[in-house]
Amino acid sequence: MVENDFVPTGYAVQRERGTVTWKAPSNIALVKYWGKKENQIPANPSLSFTLDACNTTTTLSFIKRENGGTDFSFDLFFEGKAKEDFRPKIELFFSRAKPYLPFLTDYHFKIETSNSFPHSSGIASSASGMAALSLCFMDLEKQLNPDMDTDFMLQKASFLARLGSGSACRSIQGDLIQWGTHSEIPGSSNHYGIHYPFKVHEVFKNYHDTILLVDKGKKQVSSSVGHNLMHGHPYADNRFEQAHENISRLKPVFAEGNLKEFINIVESEALTLHAMMMTSVPYFVLMKPNTLEIINTIWEFRKESNTNLCFTLDAGANVHVLYPEFEKEKVHQFIKNELIVFCEKEQYICDRIGFGAKKINIAYK
Ligand code: PMV
Repeated sequence: MVENDFVPTGYAVQRERGTVTWKAPSNIALVKYWGKKENQIPANPSLSFTLDACNTTTTLSFIKRENGGTDFSFDLFFEGKAKEDFRPKIELFFSRAKPYLPFLTDYHFKIETSNSFPHSSGIASSASGMAALSLCFMDLEKQLNPDMDTDFMLQKASFLARLGSGSACRSIQGDLIQWGTHSEIPGSSNHYGIHYPFKVHEVFKNYHDTILLVDKGKKQVSSSVGHNLMHGHPYADNRFEQAHENISRLKPVFAEGNLKEFINIVESEALTLHAMMMTSVPYFVLMKPNTLEIINTIWEFRKESNTNLCFTLDAGANVHVLYPEFEKEKVHQFIKNELIVFCEKEQYICDRIGFGAKKINIAYK
């Protein structure tokens, strides 16, 4: 599939108005996407677990404008309140998506969105939010073209979500999603995420992710600023190469259920992401003292208990603790006894691998 395959040639049906609701999950990258080219093309391939508990629900209501229009017309509500500061991001998304969704100027839209996680938790909602919104638009497009097949609909939703926020393209389906061209992954694409196509051992089918909220404040560096820091970065080429290698290294790890090697790759990816930020111009330290306390405490516990928990990080101070189902009692106890003390207001979120977005309701007239 190339970009032009997502440009519709016409619509079979007319819709005057309607409402649709989708719930889409967040995701956590094991191999990180950090650095992008024009048009939201990733500088390197990435791989993520789709999450479950952390998600965004979006309701899209649409009504045909009398004489159509050339501009976009929409109202935006976040958790029941008008949300003007989200407008520029949505406006940009509309203009990027317009060639692929020509009906965007034909309707007035009302977008109502809410997150399952607290607003100030330091958890970015852009992945789940853009995924949910893209699915709502694809649902509308499927009503205009009822013959559209579901695989195409999901693939185009991933394609559109990427235009809104790169990693959002990994939030449409579950449970292990790969995005970005990789020579050893058939069907891999810079334009959308795909199901990881190789064998995945049972142990990875119900992995847990407990998110420790170390710093619930607003992100210090937005991800678009962060990605730009990779332009002209002294280590960029090696880093991009390393992401390709790590995806190759994960193939036997997933097939065999090799947890030790999984830990080595996942933790190294997290620290490399932060190393890139520490060595860019300008430089940033996004970890907090408690992030390091947690990492050291995890390492000590893992050694003495011979368990398989590990950590990963996003572009912030919060820590994702990943562990297999068969160790959950031990790890929960450890988190409660030793890690919660490092969380802001002792807050954390228990999440786990999820299986993708869901349609909540639909009502067309
Ligand atoms: O999708 P963006 O542009 O917000 O970038 C997300 C980047 C990381 O979360 C740090 C890594 C990743 O692959 O999700």
